[in-house]
Amino acid sequence: MRIGVFCSGGDAPGMNACVMAVVRAASRHGHQVVGIKRGYQGLLEEDFFLNTEGLPILTLRRASIWSQFGGAFLRSSRSDEFRTETGQKKAAEILRRNNIDGLIAIGGDGTFQGGVALAEFWDGQFVGCPGTIDNDLIGTDYTIGFSTAVQTAVEAVDKIRDTAWSHDRMFLIEVMGRHSGYIAAYTAIATGADAVAIPETETDCKGIVKYLSYLKSQGKNSTIMIVAEGDERGGVAEIIEQLKLENCPYSMRTVVLGHLQRGGSPTPEDRRRAMQMGSAAVKAVLNGQTGVMVGTRDEHCMLTPLVETFATHRKIPPSVLELIQEMTG
Ligand code: F6P
Repeated sequence: MRIGVFCSGGDAPGMNACVMAVVRAASRHGHQVVGIKRGYQGLLEEDFFLNTEGLPILTLRRASIWSQFGGAFLRSSRSDEFRTETGQKKAAEILRRNNIDGLIAIGGDGTFQGGVALAEFWDGQFVGCPGTIDNDLIGTDYTIGFSTAVQTAVEAVDKIRDTAWSHDRMFLIEVMGRHSGYIAAYTAIATGADAVAIPETETDCKGIVKYLSYLKSQGKNSTIMIVAEGDERGGVAEIIEQLKLENCPYSMRTVVLGHLQRGGSPTPEDRRRAMQMGSAAVKAVLNGQTGVMVGTRDEHCMLTPLVETFATHRKIPPSVLELIQEMTG
């Protein structure tokens, strides 16, 4: 069999480990892997990862130590051309011409919507692996990249806390999560932030200022608030204005961590999960599965139809929300 593998959407630490696992698992069973560069756009341009002999085959040797690296060696993209029917037909034709029987796509909801659209014109097998720092896909309790993103955010907040303390300030720190407060929630808990704003719960600026005023009256000279970029009240730029209107007692500064969170060497957890899911994706292809995403639940791999993975966003467990409520204002 010839299996194509690509990364698509926002890159996430651990994507390389997932590709490496795909190559190892497929090679072990005597199958070839074609590395497709730059996601759907690279497929449309037949931009394949060439080995030392100039062949579009990703060898075991080539991908042997990829697990330790951040970013995506295959590169990643969001393709407007592939969103059109013409683009999808063209991609199907390219896959047929290159004798690719199965595709393993590492990405998020947009990637899997693409897989569903492609199935209209291509009868090969499509299996997804959840690769997004946002951790918000249905069908898995974990997405590749989440652990590293939280680790990076926590390290950054720890550093900001030093300057916050030195200058008696409050810092509002914005973390990624377009529709999801996962990174914000886990970062807030790990850093002992005093306030948090996430899209899953209503952000009550009046209540936050009341709590911060209490802390100040108790002698707390500095404080940290974590804001998810997808909060319903906006990011840090909007929330700082709302806190000012409520007469926040602290002198405030904002920091947007942004794409910093998408880079860096993946944590052991991201590497292990990526390897587990990449290997399970190959098994799924070899078992004849298609139109599914590999996910994990309690450390076991499971398959979910692609259409279910992007129907809505995965909710933060109530126990985590309760802990946040308990630990912050
Ligand atoms: O989906 C992953 C993510 O990192 C989101 O958290 C963020 O909103 C988005 O991608 C940013 O996308 P881009 O790199 O296209 O700006």
